[in-house]
Amino acid sequence: MPVLFHEQSRTLFKELIQRTCGFSFSQDREKSLIAALKKRMASRGIQTADSYYGLLLADQNELKVLVELLTVNETYFLREPEHLTLMVDTLIPELLSRRRCGPIRILSAGCSTGEEAYSVAMLLRDRYGEESERLFSITGVDIDSNTIATARSGLYGKPSFRGMDKGMMGRHFEPTGLAEFLVNAAIRRQVRFEVLNLLGNFNAIGIGCVDIILYRNVSIYFPHDVQEKIFTALADLLNEGGILIVGATETLHHDLGILTLVERNGLFYYSKPATQLFSERRSVKRHEPAHYSSKPEVTEKAVSRLTAATPSTSLPQHRSAMNGAEQPGKPTRSPKELFDGALELARSNRHEEALALLEAAIAVDHSFVKAYLLKASLLLDSARYDRAKTTSEAACALDPLCREAYLILGIVARHNGDDNDAFKRFREALYLDPACWLAHFYTAEILYARQEHKRARSSYEKATEILEKGSLAEAEKAFFPLSFNAQQFITICRHKLSLLKEGRT
Ligand SMILES: C[S@@+](CC[C@H](N)C(=O)[O-])C[C@H]1O[C@@H](n2cnc3c(N)ncnc32)[C@H](O)[C@@H]1O
Repeated sequence: MPVLFHEQSRTLFKELIQRTCGFSFSQDREKSLIAALKKRMASRGIQTADSYYGLLLADQNELKVLVELLTVNETYFLREPEHLTLMVDTLIPELLSRRRCGPIRILSAGCSTGEEAYSVAMLLRDRYGEESERLFSITGVDIDSNTIATARSGLYGKPSFRGMDKGMMGRHFEPTGLAEFLVNAAIRRQVRFEVLNLLGNFNAIGIGCVDIILYRNVSIYFPHDVQEKIFTALADLLNEGGILIVGATETLHHDLGILTLVERNGLFYYSKPATQLFSERRSVKRHEPAHYSSKPEVTEKAVSRLTAATPSTSLPQHRSAMNGAEQPGKPTRSPKELFDGALELARSNRHEEALALLEAAIAVDHSFVKAYLLKASLLLDSARYDRAKTTSEAACALDPLCREAYLILGIVARHNGDDNDAFKRFREALYLDPACWLAHFYTAEILYARQEHKRARSSYEKATEILEKGSLAEAEKAFFPLSFNAQQFITICRHKLSLLKEGRT
C-alpha cells in the first residue's frame, strides 16, 4: 500500500523540519520532502505518516538522518571567486594591519563538503606562505554530518575542481590513484570542521569573535524569519569591523539594518561597524594594508630612484613587470606614456605597480590631473583612505571642476563616517555633472540612512534612470579609473525603491 501524506500531515512535517533546520518547502521542494519521508519510512519499516511523525518527535537521531536527506550540498573549489579574491587581496590585508594579536578567524557557515573553507586556506597559503598557519584560523560548519565527514577526509573527485586551474591543484593536492585527490596536509592542518546547526548554539563548539564569515548559498531555502534569525546570530559572532559575505544572489535579502552593506570594487558585502567614535577613529594611525603582504611593495624610495632614471643595480624586482618603464639605457617615458602604462596595469589589478608608474608620471609633471585621479582611486581601492584624500585634494586644487575628485572625496568621507561632508562632496560632483549616477546613488544612500525617504527615493530614481538610459559598459567606465559593476547598482537602487514603496525601511 502506498503511504499517503494528507495536507495536514504534510504541514506537520514541514513545520517540524523548519523548526529544526530552517528549511521551507515550496511546491517543487515538497516532492523531495515526500521522497525523503518515504525512504526513511521504508528503511524503518513504518507504514503510516502519523507513526513516522511520532518517531521523529521521540528520536533525535532519526530527525537528524531525515534532515541530512534534505540538505542541498552543491559546492566546489573557488566557487564565486570574485568575493574570495576581494577577501584575500583586500579585506584580509586590512584586517591584518589593524590586528594586534591572535589569528584572523574565518568561518565558513554552511560549508557543505569543505571546498569553500579549503579554497580560502589555499588562497591564503599562496599569498602568505607558511606564515598563514600562524595568521589565520579557519573553521567550517554544517548541519550535515555526512558532508563534514567528507570535509575532514580532504578527499575530492573531479566535479569539485571545475573552478580550479591545474597549477593550484598541483600546489595543494596529491593524487591518490583512485580518481580522487587529497588536500595537502599543511592545508588540512589549518582548517577545522564541525557539525553545527546554524539555528543552534555556536558556543557549543567554541566559536566566537570571528573576523570573516562566509555564508554563501545557504539561505536560499530559508523563509524570511529564519534568514533574519541566522543572520542576526552570525552578526553577533563577528568582531567589530568584521565582515560577512553572502552569495551574490542573496545579498539584498540580508539588508536588514543589522550589518552595514558595503560596496567595494563593485562587489557587496556586510560589515559590522566599530562602536568607536568617529573622532577616535580618525586619530588612530592607519597602517598600510600591505603590512603582512608577501608581495613586495613599491616604496616611495624605489619610485624616486625610478624617476631619476639613473642606471642602478639595486632597482626593485618588479621593475621588469612595469613594462620596462625606466630601464637603464632606455629613453625615459613621457608622463602620458607612464600614465597609459599605469592604466593598463590597473586594469589587470596590478595596483602597486600602477601606483609606482603614476608617482613617476606626477614627479615629472606636477600638474597631471588624470594621474592624480588614477592614483587616488587605486589608493581608495586598497583602503588607503588618508592618501586617497590628499591625492584627490591635490587634483581639486589643480582643477576645481574635476568631478571624479569630488566623488572620491565623498567616498572617503563616507568611509570615515562623515556623512555630512560626503553629502556636500556628492552635491559638488552633481553640480559639475548632473548626470553623475554614482553621486546620485551615494546621495540616495545618505538620505536613506537619514530616513529622508522622499528625497532618497528621487535620488535612487535618478541614478536608475541614468543607468538604464545609457549603456552599462559606458556607465562603468564613466568614472574611470573606478571600476563598478553598474548592474549591481541598478539592482540595489531597485531594491531600495521597492522597500521605500512598501514602507519597509
Ligand atoms: C549549497 S551548500 C553551500 C556550500 C558553500 N557555502 C558554497 O557556497 O559553495 C549549502 C549548505 O548549507 C548547509 N545548511 C543548510 N541549513 C543549515 C543549517 N541550519 N545549519 C548548518 N548548515 C546548514 C547544507 O547542509 C549545505 O551543505
